[in-house]
Amino acid sequence: MEDILDVTDLTMKFDSKVVFQNLNFKLKKGSMTALLGPNGAGKTTLINILMDLLDPTAGNYKFSDQIKLGYVPQFRNIDQDYPLSIKAFVGLNAPLIKNKEVKKQIEHQLQETNLTGIQNTRMGRASGGQKQRAYLAQALLDHPNMIILDEATASLDPVAKQELMNLIDHLNKKHNMTVLFVTHDVALAKKYMNDYLYLDHASIRQGKMADFKEDYE
Ligand SMILES: Nc1ncnc2c1ncn2[C@@H]1O[C@H](COP(=O)(O)OP(=O)(O)OP(=O)(O)O)[C@@H](O)[C@H]1O
Ligand SMILES: [Mg+2]
Repeated sequence: MEDILDVTDLTMKFDSKVVFQNLNFKLKKGSMTALLGPNGAGKTTLINILMDLLDPTAGNYKFSDQIKLGYVPQFRNIDQDYPLSIKAFVGLNAPLIKNKEVKKQIEHQLQETNLTGIQNTRMGRASGGQKQRAYLAQALLDHPNMIILDEATASLDPVAKQELMNLIDHLNKKHNMTVLFVTHDVALAKKYMNDYLYLDHASIRQGKMADFKEDYE
């Protein structure tokens, strides 16, 4: 399988504080990787660099040319009174003028994420799992071939977690989506991810999820 991402000697410092130093790893196209590590290890910082939101202090990363990134953020509580429907919220990531083709795309992604039946529910009234699926549907409108989830399942109940992960699994199997999943949930990662990256003490380790030992955490 070809590499989709190649990270070389990546270093990040905030002032004099070293978050990580000389990280080296590669991700394969179509891989499912859990990004693990204790609080403050630098997982979100690494993701922000990969999404071009932060400049690293040193080192490089290179995505393959056809890469298109999608992103699902950590669960945030949306105000109960938030007025947009799930459908309108998903459509925020579509062109302003909703022609037939755009409407079809939105409908398709609502279907992919099992939201069609509740598309008119207000986002503020949706459950945590439904909100996360709406973020996923929003990201899918861009037709990404790699998706990054930063603690997207944190604070979801077990059923909602499985639903979101089953969707991710489906995207991987059906559309060969490459997945990078930041989580503290080792059991969930073992169930759904094939590989891990473990970030701690400014360095990174990579391996098969099946070989990951809980006591690393
Ligand atoms: N903009 C910033 N300025 C200064 N320090 C920062 C900044 N962003 C992050 N840090 C620091 O960098 C370190 C890594 O933070 P980061 O949020 O990447 O960790 P994390 O692994 O995502 O943690 P968590 O599991 O809690 O989400 C922390 O010590 C944090 O305080
Ligand atoms: Mg984080």
